[in-house]
Amino acid sequence: MTGPDATNDIAAGAAALARGALVVFPTETVYGLGANALDPVAVARVFAAKGRPTNHPLICHVASADDLSPLVAQVTPAARALADAFWPGPLTLVMPRSAAVPDAVTGGLHTVAVRVPNHPIALALLRAFGGPVAAPSANRFGRPSPTRARDVRAELGDAVDLILDGGPCAIGVESTVLDLASNPPQILRPGSVSLEQITAVINMPVSATSSGPARAPGMLATHYSPGARLEVLAAEDVVARAAALDAAGTRIAVLAPTQIAPLPPSTLILGPAGDAHAYAALLYAAFRRADADGREVILAVPPPAVGIGIAVRDRLARASAGG
Ligand code: TXA
Ligand code: MG
Repeated sequence: MTGPDATNDIAAGAAALARGALVVFPTETVYGLGANALDPVAVARVFAAKGRPTNHPLICHVASADDLSPLVAQVTPAARALADAFWPGPLTLVMPRSAAVPDAVTGGLHTVAVRVPNHPIALALLRAFGGPVAAPSANRFGRPSPTRARDVRAELGDAVDLILDGGPCAIGVESTVLDLASNPPQILRPGSVSLEQITAVINMPVSATSSGPARAPGMLATHYSPGARLEVLAAEDVVARAAALDAAGTRIAVLAPTQIAPLPPSTLILGPAGDAHAYAALLYAAFRRADADGREVILAVPPPAVGIGIAVRDRLARASAGG
């Protein structure tokens, strides 16, 4: 594998951002592929490295809630309350943008997405750089987000200039994206900050994520997909489905909250994942493990639809939609 070695050299990361280079950094959710958000040429490199359409907006990462106001038209009371409650943390706020934010970051939208990540390396990098860093997840377009530095290296290698290694990401699924520019506010992407937690802070109704067609550019029905075909099914259906696929010579993997038996001996067991938090932390690494092992089908039993389980189910649904 070529490409940069992973380091933890914050000063080198900040210097690379300042000269318009791409820096991969860990966050508590997934690894981000960062560029100076105020440099449209650097931002264009992010889209090229990912193979991502340029109308898909990026999240601006900042070091603290104090850095929000230059990026948005107005810091509303709701935004202030949410920032106080959840930052640093896995909540991204979409708000009307200021003129400081380049079109390259927002895909030409009148809104901008901002968050303060809760990871010591990300925060140190943002402080050392001293400006907003536009960063999507550090995967190729449509693929699962990386939760380990080595996954970034395997997937993006030469396309990035520096990889900061923070070990495995604690949460494992991307941040909750809350659109504060719509009325009522709407969760565009579920994450580990739940709708109930948000409404408890802002004391107004919030719409849940709608299923179906794209809600914003970059929110596709199909996304996060492993190379293997993902089938989402109930625990009680796994044994029969696994037996049928195995009998047809299909190489399968199984991911479920609890142990399932009996399975064909050749099955790659990716779990048991345990509770929804553990499931989220395991999810994308499990997808990559199945691919590395040449599995053709992953049978996945979703966690219960509460808390971060809602986010895991959303990712499973999107990862399976493309077949
Ligand atoms: O946890 C995360 O959010 C990770 C880490 C690296 O921070 N980042 C991440 O970025 O998942 P990305 O680009 O893979 O996903 C950003 C999501 C996209 O679904 C995009 O559509 C949405 O945020 N988004 C960004 N700007 C938006 C805007 N102005 N309006 C609506 N949605 C927006
Ligand atoms: Mg992504």
